[in-house]
This record gives sequence, structure tokens and C-alpha cells, in this order.
Amino acid sequence: MIKTVFISGADKGLGFSLAQRFLQAGIHVFAGQYDPDSGLPGLAESFPQGLTVIPLDVTQMDSVSRAASQVAEFVPALDVLINNAGVMLETRTPLPELDLTRLPVLETLEVNTLGPLRMVQQFLPLLEKGGRKLIINISSEAGSIGNCWRESEFAYSMSKAALNMQSKILQNYLKPRGFKILALHPGWMRTDMGGTEADIHPDEAADGIFRLADRDWMPDDEIYLDYHGQPLPW
Ligand SMILES: NC(=O)c1ccc[n+]([C@@H]2O[C@H](COP(=O)([O-])OP(=O)(O)OC[C@H]3O[C@@H](n4cnc5c(N)ncnc54)[C@H](OP(=O)(O)O)[C@@H]3O)[C@@H](O)[C@H]2O)c1
Repeated sequence: MIKTVFISGADKGLGFSLAQRFLQAGIHVFAGQYDPDSGLPGLAESFPQGLTVIPLDVTQMDSVSRAASQVAEFVPALDVLINNAGVMLETRTPLPELDLTRLPVLETLEVNTLGPLRMVQQFLPLLEKGGRKLIINISSEAGSIGNCWRESEFAYSMSKAALNMQSKILQNYLKPRGFKILALHPGWMRTDMGGTEADIHPDEAADGIFRLADRDWMPDDEIYLDYHGQPLPW
């Protein structure tokens, strides 16, 4: 049974929907807040007991370690960590027109790839004491090399492919300690990142991800799945 979850990038989009979904299930949510003016305070009014808002910038090591310390002041253990915070900083510019002196590769990797690794490193002591030992990295189909159809969006796609590799390495490393790592594609969602033409509302993705988090997992089960639980090719 999940009692506690930490969600990064919970200000809006999928992170906000995830926070709402876990709160509705009676789970205590620690919500990483990047934007001090986000909608999280409104959610706190609906769930005054269940939500703790924690300032968090996943690109800053001191912010991540401070967030872990703040959570440790509230609870002795954390059941689930959801690395949701992400950025998409580029347009679909064809290769000849790409300014490779400005392509935001490192900025994207800092949030989408190194952010989750910083989080896992700093939250590991709390997760070790938790009853679920589950880490969910919000990946994307954009990180699948096997299914790749894109002809641009280099930085974002490379950051998610690297996040997938990170998830597998973490699974190898943490398997003896009873951990399960998932890298989940949430679908194409109508958020600031996904745009208004996207397929699904983030609440639908959040519900699927909640159901997957609630399942019993074996360490050798597939890692890279969509939000319905269907495996994706690496
Ligand atoms: N939307 C899609 O169709 C889609 C598809 C596949 C995968 N995904 C993945 O799903 C996740 C959520 O995406 P979304 O569509 O909900 O995006 P979104 O609406 O842009 O929300 C992203 C969240 O991450 C936060 N964030 C950005 N930089 C951060 C940092 N340095 N530290 C902490 N938080 C930070 C944002 O804060 P601010 O509010 O202040 O910007 C925001 O709360 C991402 O990992 C994304 O790559 C999305």
C-alpha cells in the first residue's frame, strides 16, 4: 500500500494531475513546486491534510538535497518517487536551419536527465525505508530508438533516451535492495508542453500512472511502458 509519494514539477500539467490523483486516493503527496505562483496552493485548500508543497529546482543540487531534508522532517520514509519535471526547449527546426551554437541540449539534459538522477541520489535513504521502493521516471515515446519517427527535436529526444538508459542502470544497481524502476510514457497530453491538439487530458495519463504505481512489481518486469502498461521498444 502506498502511503507517501513525492512528485517533481507538480505545479501544472501532468505533475498537477498526478498530485490530485494520489491525493484522491488518500495518499500523502509531497509536491515539488518550481513556480512559486503555481496552482498548488489551491489544491492544498481541497486537501489540507494530504498535501505538502516543497520548493524544488531539479537542476540545483542544493535545492534537491534541501527538498529531501524537508520531506525527512515530516516522514521517516517515502514509498514512491515520481520524477515528472521536464522541459521541451526547442521547435521542429530542420537540420540545415538549426543553430548548433544555441541548441539547448545541456539545459534539457540538466532537467530531464540529470534532474531525476539527482533526485534518486538524494531521496534514496528515504525510499530505502519505504514500503514500496518504487521510482517512476516520466519518460516519453520520444526516447524510444526502436520506434523513432522524428526528424528533429534532437535535444528532447536524446534527453529521454538517456533517461531510459539511466532507468535501466538504476534498476541493475538497486535490484538487490528490492527496488523497482519504471520509465513511463504518459501519452500525448494537452499541457503547456503537449499543446492544445494533443490526444488526452493529463488526468487520464495520471490515472493510468496511478494504477501502474499501485501494482505489485518484480525487479525483472519490463521497465519502459506506456501509461496503459504496454511495453515500448527501447
Ligand atoms: N505533454 C506531453 O504530451 C508529454 C509527452 C510525453 C512525455 N511528457 C513528459 O511528461 C512530463 C510532464 O510534462 P507536461 O506536459 O506536464 O509539461 P509541463 O506542463 O510543461 O509541466 C512541466 C513541469 O515541470 C516543471 N519544471 C520545469 N523545469 C523544472 C525544474 N528545473 N525543476 C523542477 N521543475 C521544473 C514545470 O514548472 P513551471 O510550471 O514553472 O514551468 C512544470 O511544473 C515531462 O517529463 C514531459 O517530458 C509529456
